[in-house]
Amino acid sequence: MAQSSKSKAARKTSAWYQRHANDPHVKRAQREGKRSRAAFKLTEILDNQKHDLKVKSNTVVVDLGCAPGSWSVELAKLVGAEGLVIGIDLLPVNPISGVSLIEADFDSPAGQQALADALQGRAIDLVVSDMAPEMSGNKLVDQMRMIGLNEMTLHFAQQHLRPGGDILMKTFMGEGYDTFRRDMGQSFQKIKNIKPAASRKTSSEFFLLGKSFHA
Ligand SMILES: C[S@@+](CC[C@H](N)C(=O)[O-])C[C@H]1O[C@@H](n2cnc3c(N)ncnc32)[C@H](O)[C@@H]1O
Repeated sequence: MAQSSKSKAARKTSAWYQRHANDPHVKRAQREGKRSRAAFKLTEILDNQKHDLKVKSNTVVVDLGCAPGSWSVELAKLVGAEGLVIGIDLLPVNPISGVSLIEADFDSPAGQQALADALQGRAIDLVVSDMAPEMSGNKLVDQMRMIGLNEMTLHFAQQHLRPGGDILMKTFMGEGYDTFRRDMGQSFQKIKNIKPAASRKTSSEFFLLGKSFHA
């Protein structure tokens, strides 16, 4: 019994490696020296004018769940030397020029304090979150954890975004999503669902873009 479930897990792992090795975005990320294929999800959203999401120079951006750092690298290029990018992750991240990195749980008093300290009273222009929970394999549990992260992200944005600021966060379609989107709608003028081409079709992930924050 143990033997058969082990070989099933091994089969799954090898299928993942196979898919990963053949993924065109993985190959492109290697070619272009990106830290991860996730970079293309963000750049695709930013480059698509119909989403009207601009990261201007001199702005303050917070990157939640930033490891290994490919979004932060792109954001730092856009905000320039006068701007500020703060990235937080549970995992350590290799230094990125122009980015303040915090190794902490976003969902902890220490993580929240570290973010507030790094902001030094500056309001945020854009919050981005590519955070996802560690997958348990139980779809409902993972969905509830994802919505939990979304709720924390929204709460953080409500405390720190400047009026008119924007938010972009990953979520999963499923239980709790409709209610969460309705809650988010109370704080943003416009909300959009975005599934970038770089996001695997087999994944239930997509991004919620909230435009123009109002208290
Ligand atoms: C898909 S990865 C992010 C990839 C990143 N956007 C990039 O481009 O390199 C998701 C990250 O969310 C982080 N994460 C999940 N829950 C977190 C939490 N509570 N606090 C901080 N980071 C968290 C994970 O450690 C993981 O590194």
